[in-house]
Amino acid sequence: MPAASSSIASRSPAAAHHTPRAGTGLATAVVGLQWGDEGKGKIVDAIAPKHDIVARYNGGANAGHSVVVAGERFALHLIPAGILHKGKPAVVGCGTVIDPDWILKEIDGLAARGVDCSGLLLSDRAHVVMPWHKDEDELRERWLAKTSVEPIGTTKRGIGPCYADKVQRGTAIRMGDLLRPDVLAGKLASTVPFKQAIIGAMAAALGPALPADYAMPQYSAQALAEHCAIWQARLGKYITDTTQFLLDAQDAGKSILLEGANATLLDVDHGTYPYVTSSSTSSLGAPAGTGLPLASVGAVLGVMKSYSTRVGGGVMPTELIGNPADEALAQTIRTRGREFGTTTGRPRRVGWLDLVAVRYSVRLNGCTGLCLMLLDVLEGHQSLRICTGYRASDGSPLPFVPDANWLSAVTAEYQDFAGWQGDISGVRSMSDLPTAARRYIDFIEEYLATPISMVSIGPGREQLIEVK
Ligand code: IMP
Repeated sequence: MPAASSSIASRSPAAAHHTPRAGTGLATAVVGLQWGDEGKGKIVDAIAPKHDIVARYNGGANAGHSVVVAGERFALHLIPAGILHKGKPAVVGCGTVIDPDWILKEIDGLAARGVDCSGLLLSDRAHVVMPWHKDEDELRERWLAKTSVEPIGTTKRGIGPCYADKVQRGTAIRMGDLLRPDVLAGKLASTVPFKQAIIGAMAAALGPALPADYAMPQYSAQALAEHCAIWQARLGKYITDTTQFLLDAQDAGKSILLEGANATLLDVDHGTYPYVTSSSTSSLGAPAGTGLPLASVGAVLGVMKSYSTRVGGGVMPTELIGNPADEALAQTIRTRGREFGTTTGRPRRVGWLDLVAVRYSVRLNGCTGLCLMLLDVLEGHQSLRICTGYRASDGSPLPFVPDANWLSAVTAEYQDFAGWQGDISGVRSMSDLPTAARRYIDFIEEYLATPISMVSIGPGREQLIEVK
């Protein structure tokens, strides 16, 4: 166990490490510490008023941030949650991949509910998710299943293939290209036949593993150029050099909130590879994905659930699975926590809180503060467990290693805690929480040796306790 810090109840207000950065020019990053869906959208929404600009730095329409405002639920995929604050610039940075049809759907959906999207800025360097990226995503997953390798379990939003093209360069299309129909026409003329050949070869390799009604995609450079012209007409006004915008804003002393998507254990370099997404999801990705210098990130808020969830493939050492009692418990938590993917609707896998994994994420991100989410979901149990160590089959302790093969060899070691009864969703101060809940929180804070700044006890904006 790391050295104990002072308990939450006894800390002074100055210890709340989510200091507003208004006017300092320093940025605050908000990152997920587990496998996603921790509630980052709610935290971004809560602290956006203390910042001048909100900027997303990674991922694409695979992410799903849900925010409840005045009882109304907003599910955002590509647009930063900061858009819900009128007049605040919402930047989608150069480290993202943008599916124009998706973002248009999102803009239209928000507009229909009275949300003003005029503050949206899309990086001209962000990459465009093209139709072949989604087709390739699906065929690659089918290929893994056919060859008896556990599929990644992607969202099939074309994320991996789009990032792969970014790195390949020659066949990539960026948002800025939409503003140059002449350049785009040349790119489409070169890329379309190549992608058609690749998709055809992949489908042929899959053969009977494809469903009988599989419709082979047919790409036409002409039809795509026309579709791109629609994207340009509707999105052109938002596309700009967001790197310059952010650097200028920082020079002017503006405070920037960096919104991470997906989460640390899904980071392409630092997550549970290969069961990860294809971008740099941790705070380490924020400078590259926005163009802001490293030293400009002044605070890193790590967002974690009070338990664990994961959607898609890959090992999860504390998963509640394998016997009826554990599976019933997982189902209770899943239902109470609405643990179904915001993006795909898939039921999320559920497990006990894994502090070994979270401690790794806290260190990697350099967290200055923590937000503990969904505490209300855990009410009503006699006892709760927290994983505090990993063991090998011979009983020797093992560290967290971000590799699926290594993690599949560990056995989780638990510490038990008393549960609490009754509805805590109306509680508004730490001192009004049941003693058992406070002990659970204090233990987490002490183990992670990082102050907890906020505790969430329900989906609403008002159901967030600021730790003083
Ligand atoms: P991809 O990002 O669609 O390629 O999916 C790769 C893996 O990341 C899959 O296991 C997805 O379920 C997971 N994933 C991607 N984005 C999120 C997210 O925002 N929340 C939870 N899981 C995600």
